[in-house]
Amino acid sequence: MKGIILAGGAGTRLYPLTIATSKQLLPIYNKPMLFYPLSTLMLARIRDILVISTHEDTPNIMRLLGDGSQFGINLSYIVQERPEGLAQAFTLGKNFIGDDSCAMILGDNIFYGNGLGRKLAAAEKSTENGNASIFGYYVEDPERFGIMEFLRKSEGFEESVEVISVEEKPAHPKSNYAIAGLYFYPKGVSEMAEQVKPSARGELEITTLNEMYLQQGRLQAQLLGRGFTWIDAGTVDSLRRATNFVCMIEQYQGMTISAPEEIAYRLNWIDDVKLAESAAKYGKSPYGEHLRNVLEGKIIL
Ligand code: TTP
Repeated sequence: MKGIILAGGAGTRLYPLTIATSKQLLPIYNKPMLFYPLSTLMLARIRDILVISTHEDTPNIMRLLGDGSQFGINLSYIVQERPEGLAQAFTLGKNFIGDDSCAMILGDNIFYGNGLGRKLAAAEKSTENGNASIFGYYVEDPERFGIMEFLRKSEGFEESVEVISVEEKPAHPKSNYAIAGLYFYPKGVSEMAEQVKPSARGELEITTLNEMYLQQGRLQAQLLGRGFTWIDAGTVDSLRRATNFVCMIEQYQGMTISAPEEIAYRLNWIDDVKLAESAAKYGKSPYGEHLRNVLEGKIIL
């Protein structure tokens, strides 16, 4: 399975923060925003990842992430000339995806929670059967998001649901469940995305793509319940909330979250030497110190 981080866009809701830099390079507490979506794809065991960003921002993102070898992964880059919509990721990434299935995560989306890996594995499995997979998350302001209407398949804490409709930023939302910015598609997604027509606001909407899979009976969904946090850090307020959240988790747990080098090390994608190199690169910063603690075996899980 391939992975895409969509990290372009204009970031106008964060002006003037994003006049001279990419939204996805802004800090979420102690690390760049991009480390969070990158960690999520790595937790899904995805090692071939395409980063899509703007002409101006791609060189800086490359300075941060390089070829991915420090994370034991392969990173490649492609420029999106204009922010024409999320579904464009799959046409821009057509050669990269080839005949594979593909997950796509938004560069400003943060996912955190115990058992996330299990959910990602279930989504990945669904792509093997030719299905797309999305995640629903309860929000209080559903007008701002792509929304899914669904039926519960069973009582209790069942997390997998049957999608009935998907709608982009509806004026009258049919549910309070937003479609989070992480999507899994089976092989052939680029060809499907080529059929997406621009919406009234002129964008190639991911919701249109999801609707196409739904029409074909090939859209599956899981809910991210109380044990999970999803933050779309694209506004001034949600950026602050993201920082507060990561800061709180790290202070309570006493350890860093979403460190791609650590994930790579635990998955045996990099060895002690590589981890030590990264720790040295980050020097005396708390992030560097965390990597040294991992290396010395002080932090086991
Ligand atoms: P948005 O937050 O919807 O858009 P934006 O980043 O342009 O911000 P604003 O609305 O403040 O101007 O995008 C979600 C994510 O997807 C974000 O990480 C940027 C990325 N994106 C692209 O890379 N290309 C696109 O064409 C679009 C629409 C978004």
